[in-house]
Amino acid sequence: MSKKIAVIGLGKLGLCTALCLAKKGNYVLGYDTSKHVIESIKKRKFDNYEPDVINYLNKYKKKFEYSNSFNSILKADMFMLVLPTPSQKNKAFTNKYIYSFLNQLIKYREFLNKKIHIVITSTVMPGSCNEFINYIEKKTNLKINQNFYLSYNPEFIALGSVIKDFLNPDMVLIGSSSKDAEKDLIKIYKKFVINKKISPMSLISAEITKISLNSFVTLKISFANTLQRLCEKFKYANPYDVTNALGKDKRISKYYFRPGLPFAGPCFPRDNEALNYFQDLIGKKNKFITDATIQSNKEHVNFLNKKIMNYIKKNKFKKILIYGLSFKPNTSLPERSYSLNLVNLFLKKKVNFKIFEKNINYNNGIYKKLKKFLITKKKINSKNFDLLIDVHSLKPKYKISKIDLWNLNF
Ligand SMILES: NC(=O)c1ccc[n+]([C@@H]2O[C@H](COP(=O)([O-])OP(=O)(O)OC[C@H]3O[C@@H](n4cnc5c(N)ncnc54)[C@H](O)[C@@H]3O)[C@@H](O)[C@H]2O)c1
Repeated sequence: MSKKIAVIGLGKLGLCTALCLAKKGNYVLGYDTSKHVIESIKKRKFDNYEPDVINYLNKYKKKFEYSNSFNSILKADMFMLVLPTPSQKNKAFTNKYIYSFLNQLIKYREFLNKKIHIVITSTVMPGSCNEFINYIEKKTNLKINQNFYLSYNPEFIALGSVIKDFLNPDMVLIGSSSKDAEKDLIKIYKKFVINKKISPMSLISAEITKISLNSFVTLKISFANTLQRLCEKFKYANPYDVTNALGKDKRISKYYFRPGLPFAGPCFPRDNEALNYFQDLIGKKNKFITDATIQSNKEHVNFLNKKIMNYIKKNKFKKILIYGLSFKPNTSLPERSYSLNLVNLFLKKKVNFKIFEKNINYNNGIYKKLKKFLITKKKINSKNFDLLIDVHSLKPKYKISKIDLWNLNF
């Protein structure tokens, strides 16, 4: 009999997770408290740009139920929590959505006695999973591994390719409360991932691994960007030649190693900030690496701002087009994007500008706020604009002066 897996939270990551699990033969019960989310799924709509979601919704509909009703998930054996864990002021992630769900779940003690497996997929601070275990044990008479299992299984996916990344991971991270819990999760992944890609470990090791991975990538991005600022001081130094050559060394590798935009979006900055905070919390003196990454990223924002403003002034450009608002191509998310920073800079400096974004999502408040600046493709011509800022190096073919932020040559 196929496993019944409840996926809790059908947002950017959760819906894709649910659909991939359904594709791999599991029976999936999707649950989300948001009516908008469930209605959208019914109407075969998804707020975020994600290839294959609608196609999968149709293709695997016999393996995927979804509902706003908590009762609909009670028949599940496994509960995969893909709930929001937003960053707080101190940069640690909050677990309040997870606790809110656990509080609901533990109301059904009898049902919990059937030995369920709680899998945390949300990004959490190291130490959180043990706190969840202690919380459930304290609030009920249930015992970990006797009455329930708990695992930490975050996904390493990029927005815009969540389904593809989920089904073809470089690594599957599984932190578990016991070997049996570990085996239970490995069984699911073995249907599409080879053994050596699976990394089983303790809960705390997995929690540290998850935020370290993104933190290391931001360090790498910042290193490449730092080299750009270094090369800028020398007439014949080319930062792209330098990073291209360095990337050929296997120990470094070419991925995420080209000078360009500062790192941004809903995941990279916050995982690095969380690791920075965590090191502070445990009083270790190795904080400077994460701290330097954050400072270096801020410097890169200032570096690009200054360079762009100087270029606009020098060439007396009067009508600017920001080509791309999202934090990277093929997503509609503008959260913490460099373009958003550019918008604020232009507003402050009274630069006349408009924005073109291919993947607009008016359910996102940022787009609503910037509506008067957003233009359609039809309006892009040399009459309306004298400078196009190609934020994502998409190389659009308009006869307008351009600057490409991934190939600076000005
Ligand atoms: N999006 C990513 O690229 C990404 C990548 C890696 C990790 N993560 C992590 O995954 C987690 C989820 O991220 P996301 O981007 O999918 O978030 P999201 O905000 O897009 O989706 C979360 C969903 O949970 C629902 N929800 C909230 N409370 C609920 C409850 N009590 N019961 C049921 N549903 C509830 C919301 O309505 C929403 O639809 C976060 O911890 C995030 O850090 C996300």
